[in-house]
Amino acid sequence: MILVTGAAGFIGANFVLDWLAQSEEPVVNLDKLTYAGNPENLSSLRDNQAHRFVQGDIGDRALVDQLLREHQPRAVVNFAAESHVDRSIHGPEDFIQTNVVGTFHLLESVRAHWSGLESDAKTGFRFLHVSTDEVYGTLGPNDAPFTETTPYTPNSPYSASKAASDHLVRAYHHTYGLPVLTTNCSNNYGPYHFPEKLIPLLIVNALAGKALPVYGDGMQVRDWLYVKDHCSAIRRVLEAGRLGETYNVGGWNEKPNIDIVKTVCGLLDELRPKSGGGHYFDQVTYVKDRPGHDRRYAIDASKIHKELGWKPAETFDTGIRKTVQWYLDNPEWVAHVQSGDYRNWMGQQYGASA
Ligand code: NAD
Ligand code: DAU
Repeated sequence: MILVTGAAGFIGANFVLDWLAQSEEPVVNLDKLTYAGNPENLSSLRDNQAHRFVQGDIGDRALVDQLLREHQPRAVVNFAAESHVDRSIHGPEDFIQTNVVGTFHLLESVRAHWSGLESDAKTGFRFLHVSTDEVYGTLGPNDAPFTETTPYTPNSPYSASKAASDHLVRAYHHTYGLPVLTTNCSNNYGPYHFPEKLIPLLIVNALAGKALPVYGDGMQVRDWLYVKDHCSAIRRVLEAGRLGETYNVGGWNEKPNIDIVKTVCGLLDELRPKSGGGHYFDQVTYVKDRPGHDRRYAIDASKIHKELGWKPAETFDTGIRKTVQWYLDNPEWVAHVQSGDYRNWMGQQYGASA
């Protein structure tokens, strides 16, 4: 049994779906169902007894204590977070509350639980914290990619809150010996990505005939990784990562935003040509830049490759094609997210008790 937090969101849902496709080990999924939590992501697990969903906050000590006591997980994988940089600029408070205070409470519950375990269970226990490359700040055009020893210089309220959580996790290992692992990953893309983030926003806006907003000059660089490759890296770190270590995860795939826009638009031109003719790229609109916008991220993923033998299975070409195709094949998911109907899903699915 493992306890996974935030698994109604984009990456956590992909992680649980992949986990249960490959293993019979049950998962308890603790998710608060903020606007980003979409239980519809997990609708294929409806009849799967190995998945138990619990709506709740990682900061709710009584609830987490009870889940740990009741299920005795051998590992906790922490995806739960506020994750969108632009939202953190408009309203940082939720980011501090969940990413910093919530992670602290979760660590306290886990520490108390782990301290009381018998020796074998105690030795085998893991707390894996899922973090981001944004904690390292921004790179110049000729700088080497981030390694695990790059100093933390977070620039947004989001990345500062993730950096704080990473430091807490590290401190719980150093001070209490809690068996922790941390992963710092670059930008993910793939199925179930909430369309506030660049790639799904481009796809759904393009199809709806809306503007494709490009911040500033569109030359900011991100290092894109297909979400299922991130999930396989987390599984590998959980299995074999060295305690107290951090592992950078990335796709060796740096691209300026405007190239992402061109690729997505090109795929849509091919797979769903515009009914009246013309090109989706014509919908691009340059808009005001994000305040404090990090110019470039790039991950050096050689440590996880050398130590644990992990490497991505998808290239950007294969991953982005699958992603665009997934959005074309799942218009209902897109419609429910856009209309807000996904928020009623628990009620529809489970009745008034949900
Ligand atoms: P997401 O916003 O899609 O999902 C976050 C999930 O956490 C949601 O289901 C939400 O309901 C849940 N949640 C929020 N606050 C909670 C709380 N207090 N208690 C319990 N659940 C709560 O995020 P994502 O893109 O899936 O990211 C997951 C994790 O991976 C985050 O920690 C993020 O920092 C990290 N990460 C994301 C990326 C990326 O490109 N998306 C890259 C690297 C790391
Ligand atoms: O690097 C990992 C991080 O990647 C994760 O930790 C975050 O949780 C995740 O949201 C993501 O952060 P970004 O800010 O890089 O992702 P986003 O999709 O918001 O933006 C990607 C780039 O595209 C960024 O340079 C901003 C730009 N952008 C974004 C949006 C939403 C646009 O030009 N227009 C847009 O409308």
